[in-house]
Amino acid sequence: MKIASNKLSDLYAFYKSELATNYEQDELMSVFELVCERYLNYSKTDVKQHFHENINQSDLLKIYDACLELKTNSPIQYILKEAFFYDSFFEVNPSVLIPRPETEELVDIIITDSLIENQTTILKQPITKILDIGTGSGCIPITLKKQFPAATVVGIDISDKALEVAKRNSIKHNVEVEFIKLDILSAFNSSLITHRSSLIISNPPYVLKSEAEQMEKRVLSHEPYLALFVEDNDPIIFYKRIIDLCDKHLESNGFLFFELNPLYAHKVNDYAIASNLFIFSEVLLDMSGKQRFLKAQKK
Ligand SMILES: C[S@@+](CC[C@H](N)C(=O)[O-])C[C@H]1O[C@@H](n2cnc3c(N)ncnc32)[C@H](O)[C@@H]1O
Repeated sequence: MKIASNKLSDLYAFYKSELATNYEQDELMSVFELVCERYLNYSKTDVKQHFHENINQSDLLKIYDACLELKTNSPIQYILKEAFFYDSFFEVNPSVLIPRPETEELVDIIITDSLIENQTTILKQPITKILDIGTGSGCIPITLKKQFPAATVVGIDISDKALEVAKRNSIKHNVEVEFIKLDILSAFNSSLITHRSSLIISNPPYVLKSEAEQMEKRVLSHEPYLALFVEDNDPIIFYKRIIDLCDKHLESNGFLFFELNPLYAHKVNDYAIASNLFIFSEVLLDMSGKQRFLKAQKK
């Protein structure tokens, strides 16, 4: 199909015909609005208001190119090179996971807990040092650093390319976060993490390879394998390792927060309790009622 004119409405008609098999009707309008927000700086209301007006040729070409990329099932966030997380946009590319709403919820739990106190503490513990394990785009440590400006914040990841994105995001957000390359599963030199943290947080890879078949093509063929999957024979390998590390790297009374695979939430909690490192360890539900987060406090 050709685009009938430079009118936004004709461009939308083009999206509808080209992407009919890629998106549901409602989803398609949201995608179109995101593209217009990025390239035309239009809000949703602006899209409606200017729907029957012409746009210039250069903007039309950008929106046309985005449609061709969407046809390959590339996620919209990779095409626009940004994803919204918590309260702002983060650069993303295919070397980092697109931040998910569940992870925003996890960050929100920490921030809300701290607001109940006095913006610098969770349950009366000062948050002075934060460690994020498997940092990806850096969305977690950067958002937390903005909330707790006095804290020393470190993000670690095994992927050089992810760390490059995370560093650019910390510059974009004008916050100081130290990013370190580290394979958390290896017997690393623990002096690389020089301090004991008051808060350790992680959203590690947690999808089983056997779960891959049920996943959307858009996720499976575009998002980094390394960020998503764990071997079926040890689905909680990252959680066990991080819990073990809490012995040396989490302060007394400090907090551990995980995002979990609901299928294994109880196994992770059981491991945390059996470690005998914590005053308490509990599984929290996400907004859809799934067992999604772990919160534990060190003895
Ligand atoms: C599920 S993603 C989370 C990314 C980001 N924290 C978020 O919530 O959007 C998991 C991250 O763990 C990293 N990772 C995978 N294996 C790792 C390892 N052995 N050591 C450290 N990081 C690892 C991946 O590169 C990826 O960035």
